[in-house]
Amino acid sequence: MSLNLAVFISGRGSNMLSILKACEDPDFPARMSLVVSNRPDAAGLNTAQSNGISTETIDHKAYDTREAFEEEISARLKNYDIDLIVLAGFMRIFTDSFVEKWPRRIINIHPSLLPDYKGTHTHKRAIEDGKSEGGCTVHYVIPELDSGPIIAQKRVPILPGDTPDTLADRVLVQEHILYPEAIRLVAESLA
Ligand code: GRF
Repeated sequence: MSLNLAVFISGRGSNMLSILKACEDPDFPARMSLVVSNRPDAAGLNTAQSNGISTETIDHKAYDTREAFEEEISARLKNYDIDLIVLAGFMRIFTDSFVEKWPRRIINIHPSLLPDYKGTHTHKRAIEDGKSEGGCTVHYVIPELDSGPIIAQKRVPILPGDTPDTLADRVLVQEHILYPEAIRLVAESLA
């Protein structure tokens, strides 16, 4: 099965680009039809456009409620026949009702070895706790934050002298490998 992806971003979009590169392989079981950003200034929008990918900007600040914001997302998605929503640095939390409309059809990448370090500042917290390993996780999105079934993980060592930034850089290299692998696993699970 070839999955039609909508990738949701809020910023740089480096994971989006790594998925886009994977989609260039004709054997990869997905293609990217759409990139959605809630931030008009997200750098990843330019990256997507310069690679010929359609983009939709839906600024959450223009909507009074999360429900209204999500209604607009749903309306725009209707035009693209999307199979899988891929959250890649998307910094908004969906309502339960939106998540329940897409069961096992929304996935997210999180920069920790879930279930450890849900939420933000994952690298700082792991270093402060004296952990010897960090990593990243791709998981299905369920209403409870960062808690859905895990699809795949990669581990990286935490080295003496690491700062949150040096650790984030090391984890990001693995994120770019992990996300395409996880999308392949999702496609295979639906085949
Ligand atoms: C990644 O570290 C991801 O794990 C986190 O936000 C960052 C997004 O980076 N959720 P990018 O926009 O994909 O470059």
